[in-house]
Amino acid sequence: MNIYRTIDEMRAAVKAARGAGRHRLGLVPTMGALHGGHLSLVRAARAECDWVAASIFVNPLQFGPTEDLARYPRPFERDRELLEAEQIDALFAPSAEEMYPGNEAAYVEVRDMSERLDGRSRPGHFRGVTTVVAKLFHIIPADRAYFGQKDAAQVAIIRRMARDLNFDVEIRVCPIVREADGVAMSSRNAYLNPEQRKAATALYRALARVQRARDLGEQNSAALLAAAKSVLAEEPLVKIDYVEIVHPETLEPLDHARGALIAVAAWVGETRLIDNLLLA
Ligand code: PAJ
Repeated sequence: MNIYRTIDEMRAAVKAARGAGRHRLGLVPTMGALHGGHLSLVRAARAECDWVAASIFVNPLQFGPTEDLARYPRPFERDRELLEAEQIDALFAPSAEEMYPGNEAAYVEVRDMSERLDGRSRPGHFRGVTTVVAKLFHIIPADRAYFGQKDAAQVAIIRRMARDLNFDVEIRVCPIVREADGVAMSSRNAYLNPEQRKAATALYRALARVQRARDLGEQNSAALLAAAKSVLAEEPLVKIDYVEIVHPETLEPLDHARGALIAVAAWVGETRLIDNLLLA
């Protein structure tokens, strides 16, 4: 695995891979602090592509002024070893200055959708995500790019960006990888103390309760949301940010559950966690 720190080097490596006859290139964008969720994307890319790049870049543009940019974990050596073990071809790990030399005036924004779900609680977040993902797609023009269903709104917004702006890349989405107790793997779980970590199971328990009610025939979003909220309310360490039932592609609220996405975000102490479930 070669490590590239500059955009020029990274571009040259992509050209060399194409020149060497690699015909299906895969890209896995990440912010590092890798866990089983990230590695599931890397493995999907490795299985489907004949050249795979991952990126590690903690993108300042997607963090709000009061968010955790400074303390976001950056265990680079460990990440490098994990990716090396997956036998990928390239790791793109630029500095913030390399990606944003200063005076940037152009951004990529998916209107309306970017103000829904996490976008409502985190103004500017999705503009930061779509801008950096567009930049990564230009720097590493892969055939397939891999994202996790864990960030369901991000997936919908990136798909929409790729469609509206004709990015020549297939967006592949991998299922949520969970810990044994149901908690969705996340780099931010590292912030939780043992008590908070236990409380964090409430997100998944709320989704499981909704799934059960759905299986018993409940179709009505208001009833299903009430069920989810009652589970979260039983856990004093958990503060709901949002629980919504929406269309998985447009992120618009739905009053019935068929084919819907139920998404939850909640604070556990200072840590904001998200989870979701696609309802059949
Ligand atoms: P990050 O949070 O590092 O996540 C990188 C990718 O891993 C995302 O596509 C995310 O959905 C996926 N992922 C995280 N946890 C997962 C889990 N438990 N199961 C399955 N997939 C999981 O998302 C970002 O970084 C950034 O916004 C990025 C797209 C890199 C742009 O900066």
